[in-house]
Amino acid sequence: MLAVPVSLRFIVTIDGPAGTGKSTVAHWLAKRLGLEFLDTGAMYRAAALSALERGIDPADGECVAQLVRELDLAFDWTSDPPELFADGRPVGERIRTPEVTRAVSLVASNPTVRAEMVRAQRGIASRHPRLVTEGRDQGSVVFPDADVRIYLDARPEVRARRRVEQLSLKGIVTNEAEVLAQILERDRIDSTRRDGPLVCPRGADVVDTSDLEVGAVIDRLAELVRARAGDALAASASSRGVRGADGGAAAP
Ligand code: DC
Repeated sequence: MLAVPVSLRFIVTIDGPAGTGKSTVAHWLAKRLGLEFLDTGAMYRAAALSALERGIDPADGECVAQLVRELDLAFDWTSDPPELFADGRPVGERIRTPEVTRAVSLVASNPTVRAEMVRAQRGIASRHPRLVTEGRDQGSVVFPDADVRIYLDARPEVRARRRVEQLSLKGIVTNEAEVLAQILERDRIDSTRRDGPLVCPRGADVVDTSDLEVGAVIDRLAELVRARAGDALAASASSRGVRGADGGAAAP
């Protein structure tokens, strides 16, 4: 595959633990800046869902690895946010169930799964080089040379409360103390695994979202991207002939 000229590429990575609002913020930041949005957590969740649907034990490293080698994951980039398909079937909300959430940390700690996902995500970036991508290892492992690297954080109690609210909107009633325990356990697994552990990437800007509304976080990140790499963003937009950041002037 041809390498994308550097001037066309503009990548913002957003990493951080569960419940910091990464997906929502990354999606809206991408829209604000005229970039595409990649939810890499959805890819790991789709792998976990596929394992569960085939009756594979998420702890069975060999079987999960084989499954992921053969799994066809593809986004439909015409929908907003891009819709994920696994072996031709839309995964939809099936990747957000408590069962998948319980299984996914284990699946995501499988080194073969991680290697396949990293390869797939770099492939996506070569076809969609103007990207806000969010996950746990985007700025540390997958795109360490990203134009802007952001690490979102929030206090665990705040993250648990947000998760409870999200689930209750879907009609799922949960206990906040249990959700907090699950979040802390997920943090532990995500940050202690050998491959691609959750870390604050080198040179990343850290934003604590505990006391900020989503809109304020998006404003903060948009400012940060402009301050760090506004010229590169504008150059990338104009070389693609697309509208620039904040719906600014179209390329000449
Ligand atoms: O962000 P999320 O809750 O949808 O992520 C689901 C799981 O996938 C979570 O346990 C962490 C893992 N993950 C990962 O290990 N690396 C990524 N780049 C994205 C997610």
